[in-house]
Amino acid sequence: MPAIRVWDLPTRLFHWSLATCVIALIASGSIGGAWMEWHFRLGYATLTLLLFRLGWGFVGGYWSRFAHFIPWPGAIVRYLKGKATPLDTLGHNPLGSLSVYVMLLALLGQAVSGLFADDAISYTGPLAAYASEDTVSLATWYHADIGKPLLIALAVLHVLAIVFYRLVRGQRLVAGMVHGDRQTDIEAPASADGLRQRLGALVLLAICAGFVWWLVSLGASAGGY
Ligand code: HEM
Ligand code: HEM
Repeated sequence: MPAIRVWDLPTRLFHWSLATCVIALIASGSIGGAWMEWHFRLGYATLTLLLFRLGWGFVGGYWSRFAHFIPWPGAIVRYLKGKATPLDTLGHNPLGSLSVYVMLLALLGQAVSGLFADDAISYTGPLAAYASEDTVSLATWYHADIGKPLLIALAVLHVLAIVFYRLVRGQRLVAGMVHGDRQTDIEAPASADGLRQRLGALVLLAICAGFVWWLVSLGASAGGY
């Protein structure tokens, strides 16, 4: 069966870097102590990755664009009834699309609340100095008591879903996220994934990193960590 490029290289690198950072963030945040220095660095890297993904959702490869994986209720119902069209499931399937948005939002909420969080011992998010005490307590509470269990639950559910698709549906989704291609015999657009797109992704990543650098420097000038 012929294969088409579904996940361009920038999306795949984004995914595996994000997964590594998030696992390390949950570990470093939970252990605390000196590991918080790494927690902050990884947190900035994750925020950069998330901003990159938001931009890539508009200018990236066909299947990475938000416009091409909108979780329409009709499509979700069709999918759950087992009546999805082949095009519905070539990229993220309708239920998967919904979970991608939930994960991206939860991760953004976690990274932004981290910028305002304060562990009341030695580590304070770079923007806490600009917020009221109430806002800092709210952000810290959200970060530690809501965001942490929410993200762990979403990550576990995510991996269980991938295992389910492999064992029950016989779909090798991980392989697609590794080499980028999916086998299909339907006529469908492929994601552009050439040198031009990859260089464009690097420029976008540099812009996002510059923005996060600037945000963090605001904190340094306000006396934060
Ligand atoms: C905490 C760690 C993880 C996070 C936060 C995470 C997050 C995400 C996100 C945001 C996407 C959407 C990709 C995009 O369109 O940009 C995605 C897709 C995907 N992830 Fe993960 N992921 C994690 C761990 C893993 C692991 C360990 C695996 C392998 C078992 C995995 C396999 C996949 C696959 C196969 C897809 C594509 C699903 C599809 O074909 O629709 N992820 N993940
Ligand atoms: C998506 C990215 C992030 C994840 C998944 C994450 C996860 C975590 C976790 C699991 C904890 C431990 C909570 C606890 O058990 O008490 C924690 C604590 C903390 N994180 Fe993050 N974090 C992220 C981003 C950030 C960022 C960007 C910053 C700041 C720049 C930050 C600052 C903090 C602080 C100050 C604490 C200590 C809060 C407390 O003592 O209650 N985090 N984080």
